Amino acid sequence: LPHFVSVENLGVDRINTLIKRAEYFKNGGARPQLKTPVYVTNMFFENSTRTHTSFAMAEKKLGLTEIPFDAAHSSMSKGETLYDTCLVMNALGVNLSVIRASQNAYYEPLINHRADQHLNLGIVNAGDGSGQHPSQSLLDMMTIHEHFGSFKGLKIAIVGDITNSRVARSNMEILTRLGAEVYFSGPDYWYDHAFDKYGKFCPLDDLVDKVDVMMLLRVQHERHAGDANESKFDAAKYHEKYGINHDRYNRLKDQCLIMHPGPINHDVELAGNLVEAPKCAFFKQMQNGVFMRMAMLEAVVRGRHLGGLE
Ligand code: CP
Repeated sequence: LPHFVSVENLGVDRINTLIKRAEYFKNGGARPQLKTPVYVTNMFFENSTRTHTSFAMAEKKLGLTEIPFDAAHSSMSKGETLYDTCLVMNALGVNLSVIRASQNAYYEPLINHRADQHLNLGIVNAGDGSGQHPSQSLLDMMTIHEHFGSFKGLKIAIVGDITNSRVARSNMEILTRLGAEVYFSGPDYWYDHAFDKYGKFCPLDDLVDKVDVMMLLRVQHERHAGDANESKFDAAKYHEKYGINHDRYNRLKDQCLIMHPGPINHDVELAGNLVEAPKCAFFKQMQNGVFMRMAMLEAVVRGRHLGGLE
């Protein structure tokens, strides 16, 4: 792959190959031997704990050389465009940029530029607005595969602030492609019926004892500017109607996985004292993320014939 920006065109074979490769790395498999250095920048224009550190760890484990980039103090604050910033990275000898930005599809002009533009930089999308979050989606698939061994027929609920969630968008697409049955729940004002083609919108209590995976989403207050529902938001009421409290936790199947991309709003999506409960897979998701990001970065390194790899 020359870039890794979306799960949109990722076929089932490619998804399974990435999961196998990530499992190989997790089981201690040797990294490929780079014959020449490969330089990477992690350019995060939105805050991140998991994705940023996980990519940095994956790069280190893969033998890539990270060139530090401080988004807050970059010359983009003086008006330099993202495209020009990427040209700078290119001129300095950077081969790949892992980018997170608040604008949906920010990567389009970087990967489909005009014939008279000469940017030559591999782009890995670490999250674009409410668009896509391919590395989160693939680490989620790895975690589900590790627990259940396959996807066909699994009943998976995606619950919460769905309209604003790039994780939800990537996961509803990829899970449908992999043969899972997708259900949605949460406030109807944060659900878009355009998602009906992927699954059914139901009350949470109809799903609790039925699903194999309960995928919770963070309420993303930072994306609610101009949303009338934001000013009416009440954390306790949200938790009562749409959150996993102790009663709902106990009604979930014994083998059910509760997933959340993080960060978790305690006592909103989930009772705060359930964060480390046995059915919760959050830290397994994070651990798997390092190995999945190694597999994704390797696919782009090979796709661009960097480091002497084919
Ligand atoms: N899941 C996720 O994207 O978390 P961060 O915002 O901490 O990277």
